Amino acid sequence: MTISDYNFAGKKAIVRVDFNVPLNENGEITDDTRIRGALPTLKKIIADGGAAIIMSHMGKPKGKVNPKLSLGQIRGAVEKALGCPVSFAPDCAKAQDAAKALKMGEALMLENLRYYPEEEGKPVGIEKDDPAYEEAKKAMKASQKEFAKTLASYADCYVMDAFGTAHRKHASTAVIADYFDADNKMLGFLMEKEVQAVDNVLSNIKRPFVAIMGGSKVSSKIGIIQNLLGKVDKLILCGGMTYTFSKAHGGEIGDSIVELDKLDVALDVEKTAKENGVELVLGVDSVCCNGYDFGTFSVKPGAQIKVFPSNAIEAGWDGLDAGPESRKKFAEAIKGAKTILWNGPAGCFECEDFTAGSRAVGEAVAQATAEGAFSLIGGGDSVACCTKFGLTDKVSYISTGGGALLEAIEGKVLPGVAAIKG
Ligand code: 3PG
Repeated sequence: MTISDYNFAGKKAIVRVDFNVPLNENGEITDDTRIRGALPTLKKIIADGGAAIIMSHMGKPKGKVNPKLSLGQIRGAVEKALGCPVSFAPDCAKAQDAAKALKMGEALMLENLRYYPEEEGKPVGIEKDDPAYEEAKKAMKASQKEFAKTLASYADCYVMDAFGTAHRKHASTAVIADYFDADNKMLGFLMEKEVQAVDNVLSNIKRPFVAIMGGSKVSSKIGIIQNLLGKVDKLILCGGMTYTFSKAHGGEIGDSIVELDKLDVALDVEKTAKENGVELVLGVDSVCCNGYDFGTFSVKPGAQIKVFPSNAIEAGWDGLDAGPESRKKFAEAIKGAKTILWNGPAGCFECEDFTAGSRAVGEAVAQATAEGAFSLIGGGDSVACCTKFGLTDKVSYISTGGGALLEAIEGKVLPGVAAIKG
């Protein structure tokens, strides 16, 4: 079933969205991209004369109630964006009465699904090496099915529209689909759009294909990096990862972030790039600081900022952004690209002093897009960079997915898609 063909009139639809949106200390939404992304689906349900039961996770409460991660904080914003009454069920597994009382043309939002460990389906309080682990896992899988069945019981049909969480095989993203027949479960508009965007990149690669991977850790990106080395013409590695590569070659990196147990991985990436004829582009200089507060994203009073070669950073200094030579190198590598994937910032862009690297990357991506490239941007931080630098309309597609986008680009079938399409 496709959402365009489905008539929601008189039906209650339970919709998995990804409203895991960033909040400030006052609980206010700082980036509503994911809420806006789900609106076409939610609005169609309401416009057809149906009712929407909206469910999501927020953060990682690990199976416990945590008011700081309550979806109640964003109910008002969702109501405003959707333009119809949105009520709130404070316990997602005990929302039978609220679901029953829900009127057509209205919506009900459930509390954070991850307050229940059944959502993720991992046994709690037991380690993998415990002899009782397998039994505990089996028991948890059984209660996960019960949890999914309860959620399914609220509605007549199921819509999966949480692209950001589609790489998780959770109760609400996959297991729940078993409780609806094929005519009453479907992907939402956002899912369709995101899957199409990935398809655009993978099935129709126009060359040169340039990928820009940023962020602090090689370890969290290694799967996608290795995969991209079989697809791209150029791979720019920036952000904190730079220092693991520098260190692997015996460079001095001062106090910069490094994964000492991944030096061999870095060398391996370089070797594979060479074998595959991929041009690997790494930063050569860094904007460094000798007193940066990572908690408040600010330079401590009296601290200095200075540019060092990325392999000769003095002790006491942290590499926090791409230096001027690196920025030139990155922009040069992006110029002329016809397909671009950008995931992860080039520096600590949260602080104004260290935005130049990510800005240079973003502007080069925008320029290449204006000259005909298809550019796909994913991951919360790169999306935040585009917003901050006013580039959202100058790139081809901004994904609501981080990990999900990378897994899709790796060519993996996302559990959230498989649950609907089989
Ligand atoms: C995200 O923000 O990437 C998604 O909401 C998924 O969250 P998770 O990594 O906690 O599953």
